[in-house]
Amino acid sequence: MYRLPITKKLRGLASLVGNRVRDRPLNITLELTRRCNARCDYCNHWKEQKQDEQALADFVGVVERFQPFSVTICGGEPFMRKDALAIVRAVKDAPGWRYVSIITNGWFLSEERAQALLDTGIDQVNVSLNFPDARQDGDRKLPGLFKKIAHIVPWMAARGANVQLNTIVMNENLDDALPIAELALSWGASVMYTLYSELPADNHAHLFPAERQARLLEVLGELRDYKRAHANIANTQWYFDTIPTYISGTPIPGCTAGKKTLHVSPGGMVRACAELPMVSHYSTYDHRAIAPVTCTRCFQACRGEVQAPITLGRVVEALRS
Ligand SMILES: C[S@@+](CC[C@H](N)C(=O)[O-])C[C@H]1O[C@@H](n2cnc3c(N)ncnc32)[C@H](O)[C@@H]1O
Repeated sequence: MYRLPITKKLRGLASLVGNRVRDRPLNITLELTRRCNARCDYCNHWKEQKQDEQALADFVGVVERFQPFSVTICGGEPFMRKDALAIVRAVKDAPGWRYVSIITNGWFLSEERAQALLDTGIDQVNVSLNFPDARQDGDRKLPGLFKKIAHIVPWMAARGANVQLNTIVMNENLDDALPIAELALSWGASVMYTLYSELPADNHAHLFPAERQARLLEVLGELRDYKRAHANIANTQWYFDTIPTYISGTPIPGCTAGKKTLHVSPGGMVRACAELPMVSHYSTYDHRAIAPVTCTRCFQACRGEVQAPITLGRVVEALRS
């Protein structure tokens, strides 16, 4: 599995400290487009009318204005844009240092495009995977998708890339959570789990019914044990430990979206996260002046992991991994 070289870790640590001291956003998600080739029933992006999509220079403009520690290139499906690779490269090469990753469903990652993606200098490639077998095709309504992912993830990992699977934990794939970690390890990849949210498509069908909550606790225990034995689960233990509280109906306050993490629409509008309303164009958005969000309606990893306390144990774990 990919191990971040110590020089890169120290560079990242220095950048993180500078980012905190200057009160800059930790992460910015750049939605290149809302267009998508998948037809997931838990996300509505693909149903939307085509939005204005800003040009490469504006994506760089976002990075230059906020100077975040990290940038996540996302969508819709980012590769629906023909200039996706050029945008990744431009965001990576803009003056200063940042950790750049992409989230993709993997469909467009032929060997040639995957190599071109790695050649941009991208730091991490996230491929979404909710099932460790051909059920993935049905999840995304893309026949043949699992076969493509099963080829390209180990292919990229074998070329020294930092590849991570992004897995939504929901009712249907609860028993697949551990097998996905095992599959990721066999492919040379890591995995980051996120709790399912009904918000993106107002779809409650994948939530955990009350009778499944005991099994959820068991699975979280299995993931904790696996995480201790192997280094390829990227979640913090705090995130796993807090999921049962959220599932039991207790709100988890303290979401830092809008201040530490910003979401930029294809047209350059900033919002706290993909589920909250647009606030203003990136050229006028001020994360320092904006009031903290009070939303407690989800516990996805994009908020939960950012809130996870920074402990000495985590720092040591990060330096050793
Ligand atoms: C909206 S997708 C866009 C990127 C790309 N098209 C993909 O599928 O990976 C970004 C991430 O959000 C996750 N996601 C989508 N709907 C979700 C939901 N309802 N709850 C939790 N995560 C969700 C996806 O699995 C994916 O990892």
